Amino acid sequence: MVTDIESSLWAPNSWQTKQAAQQPVYDNPAELDSVVAELSKLPPLVTSYEVVQLKQQFAEAQAGKRFILQGGDCAESFSDCHGPTIASKLKILLQMSLVLVQGSKRPVTRVARIAGQYAKPRSENMETRDGVSLPSYRGDLINRVAFTAGDRRPDPQLLLQAHARAAMTLNFLRSLSKGGFADLHHPEYWDLSFAENSPLADEYHRMAASISESVRFMENILGIHAAEIERVDLFTAHEGLHLHYEQAQTKRVPRREGWFDLSTHFPWIGLRTNQPDGAHVEYFRGIVNPIGVKIGHTTSDEQIQQLVEILNPGNEPGRLTLIHRCGAKRVATELPRMIRAVKATGREVVWVCDPMHGNTFLTADGIKTRNFDGILSEVEQAFDVHAAEGSKLGGVHIELTGENVTECTGGSRGLSEEDLKRDYRSEVDPRLNSEQALEIAMLMARKMARM
Ligand code: PEP
Ligand code: CO
Repeated sequence: MVTDIESSLWAPNSWQTKQAAQQPVYDNPAELDSVVAELSKLPPLVTSYEVVQLKQQFAEAQAGKRFILQGGDCAESFSDCHGPTIASKLKILLQMSLVLVQGSKRPVTRVARIAGQYAKPRSENMETRDGVSLPSYRGDLINRVAFTAGDRRPDPQLLLQAHARAAMTLNFLRSLSKGGFADLHHPEYWDLSFAENSPLADEYHRMAASISESVRFMENILGIHAAEIERVDLFTAHEGLHLHYEQAQTKRVPRREGWFDLSTHFPWIGLRTNQPDGAHVEYFRGIVNPIGVKIGHTTSDEQIQQLVEILNPGNEPGRLTLIHRCGAKRVATELPRMIRAVKATGREVVWVCDPMHGNTFLTADGIKTRNFDGILSEVEQAFDVHAAEGSKLGGVHIELTGENVTECTGGSRGLSEEDLKRDYRSEVDPRLNSEQALEIAMLMARKMARM
């Protein structure tokens, strides 16, 4: 448990006494204060009931009885608050989760990077073009992407707009989810044309057929029509980067103890803000939600141990997820020491592999990309390392989109570096498109089925 002295010092705004990395500098603090006050009066986006339910599911993943599929855009933009874009994201996550259920023989929890993934950490505070320097674009929560002084000015009003967009996104997602698994019956649902030339095409078809078979079994034997399954559970997540935004939505609720961040179910701390003595860790230690922290090769064993001790002092199952993002070349050497560092604390965490952020590179033409095989290799190695260390990989964290963009190379369709020029839309990190995302789920399912 947090000691009394520590807990009495925590408050939704106690982070302000610490060093907060990656925060925008607003030129009108009074305007920021009034926006934060307004935001704190708006209704929450999620409920404490859902947050507690998700923590229970993370506890099951920690025990190896469930698998977490976290996925979505690197950054949502306000223009992504658009019906077809939202629907296609739900569809790919649903599809991937069904494939993973088949492979892992475990229930799968869907956690989308959505309805609030509007802020990005940046390596440089300023961007310079043709001798003109302006604040870097930090996501639609903070400023606008166009390179003009007006657009790049951090604008507090965007916090209110983001909350409204997140609410609209969630409202549509909740309605869509009510349709249950209805779409499974549409033949185009399992379009596997991308795999035509893959040596695994037959296996992919068998997986899809087996899922359809399970649905038919359920309908025939149990008499439940897939379209009638009341609800598909979907939880939300975003990087809890902008601490004023999180603070404003941090609330107490009747009949439950503690403070909940009700802007999302599962906020996480990014790699650039995971300093144990920093403001983000201070904010996160006081909220009840299940929380994540990204760790990488730059995160020392000592830092990992401090994070575990500060963020999960009570060793509560499902409370803390460590999201490792080492890269395919480093995971075999870095992950064992991370697992051992946590073991030495006597506490447990949920382990999730992010195979995206350690595998980013620039093409000869300067395009930021990731290769399908590198991503797959990191996940496969992560499964093996956890097994060898007597640990469990509880989930994966993937950047993806429901559309057929060309941002990552590889996959059965064989996207090349030349193809990246065709339909590259991300303002930040490259995402797997829906075909690549479905294929990686199939390959992960295949791996899990053989373990
Ligand atoms: C991200 O998840 O988009 C991100 C910035 O990751 P990381 O903090 O691991 O670099
Ligand atoms: Co990213």
